[in-house]
Amino acid sequence: MEIEFVSQGPVEGEPLSAIAVPIFDGQVLSNAAEAVDAAAGGAVSRALAGARFTGAKGQSLDLVAPGGLHVSRVILIGAGPRDGMDALTAEALGAGAYQAVKVSGVSILELRLSDLTDQQAARAAFGARLAAYRFDRYLTKEKPEKKPSVTTVRVACADPAAATAAFAPLSALADAVLFARDLVSEPANILFPEEFAHRVKRLEDLGLEVEILGEAQMAELGMGSLLGVGQGSTRESQLAVMVWKGAADAKAAPIAFVGKGVCFDTGGISIKPADGMEDMKWDMGGAAAVAGVMHALAGRKAKVNAVGILGLVENMPDGNAIRPGDILTSMSGQTIEVINTDAEGRLVLADALWYCQQKFAPKAIVDLATLTGAMIIALGHDYGGMFSNDDGLAAELLAASTAEGELLWRMPLHAGYEKQIDSMAADVKNTGGRPAGSITAALFLQRFVEKTPWAHLDIAPVAWKKPSSNPTIPDGASGYGVRLLDRLVADHYEDKA
Ligand code: BES
Ligand code: MN
Ligand code: ZN
Repeated sequence: MEIEFVSQGPVEGEPLSAIAVPIFDGQVLSNAAEAVDAAAGGAVSRALAGARFTGAKGQSLDLVAPGGLHVSRVILIGAGPRDGMDALTAEALGAGAYQAVKVSGVSILELRLSDLTDQQAARAAFGARLAAYRFDRYLTKEKPEKKPSVTTVRVACADPAAATAAFAPLSALADAVLFARDLVSEPANILFPEEFAHRVKRLEDLGLEVEILGEAQMAELGMGSLLGVGQGSTRESQLAVMVWKGAADAKAAPIAFVGKGVCFDTGGISIKPADGMEDMKWDMGGAAAVAGVMHALAGRKAKVNAVGILGLVENMPDGNAIRPGDILTSMSGQTIEVINTDAEGRLVLADALWYCQQKFAPKAIVDLATLTGAMIIALGHDYGGMFSNDDGLAAELLAASTAEGELLWRMPLHAGYEKQIDSMAADVKNTGGRPAGSITAALFLQRFVEKTPWAHLDIAPVAWKKPSSNPTIPDGASGYGVRLLDRLVADHYEDKA
């Protein structure tokens, strides 16, 4: 899909095009809507009279082939209050207009946004770009009428040059979100640990340094916990280490991101039920978000030092697989009694987190993982869960989360739950039973973090299922975490100009 910014001329339209204009709360017409109304002989006003469309955010109203205009459709998009439009509302405007005409047959969508700032116009384009994502690589027989028809989104605004400039970093961010969505969408027969590592290695073209460690190197480092998970799989486990050096001081301590990359999670010997097991192809959503944010930072040449570490494994039942009761020795030296082989994500992260601290002595660490079903029970699909040992980092993450519309709710890391994961046979057990399952998982991870400010994001609720009201996320892979972490870096970790 092409995106172009043009100056807002007279309302002309052309065949197979749609014109979208904002309407504010209380059916208040934007200037752009007034102009369309005039050109179409009052069709907009007539449609609004008596309609339940108020102009609230999230609403849209379709006018098909209004008289006086050479267009297939005019789309009225609810833009909320006239003053103080925030970035997410501007995105929703572009995304909502796109969704309204996506499969209508229209090929050009013209967003007439002269009422907005150039920054907001760029945000609207960003919203349309994110909304237009679909994973259709394996659809060989899709009927033409089911395929999206829009090929161009044209944004008419006050200063196209300024909007184009404002769009550049957002375009880099969108590329990164879509990269993450593709990784999450790929099935596990295609995207196994080595293939994931190859795709990440290719990001060296953006200026990242990427090192891939195989099983022999990880064994040398003593990563018995991560390797234990992969030991029942014929696919080789990998650790991908991505480094971005963008700060003026090349030696400044980096911010670090660590991702759970379980390319498929059968549960292992503690095998999962058949129903819904196919969902476990997206058990690498944390690693995809980390790869995505590294893509974003390199794509926009962020002035920061950052590292991304991905623990890539496949959890399979097999003659070589780990058993319940097995004791693994992690890179930290701590021993782990495996109670349930389906609690594998924390085993992967234990070694990835330890390696991260030893190798990079980071300023802060954020890990992302589709870690527990219990997190979905607690939060549904709108919020991800956040656990942190540091109030400052937690506050930064919450602010970034609100700004980007990737919601997070802080959960307790209360020491009282620790006894649930104490083991008689080893230093720690890998499960603490059903009560507070997400919290005991986070406490397990905390045992592998020394003094570094750290946050764990349990993104099981949000990696795939769509939040209830976000038009920028089509069904399927959300790419959750890329925007959140990019914003965290932009607001708190980049060199100031
Ligand atoms: N990958 C799953 C968690 C998950 C479940 C993510 C559903 C997304 C949707 C994780 O590896 C897992 O199996 N966790 C277990 C832990 C339990 C055995 C302590 C769970 O949540 O049931
Ligand atoms: Mn599991
Ligand atoms: Zn898992």
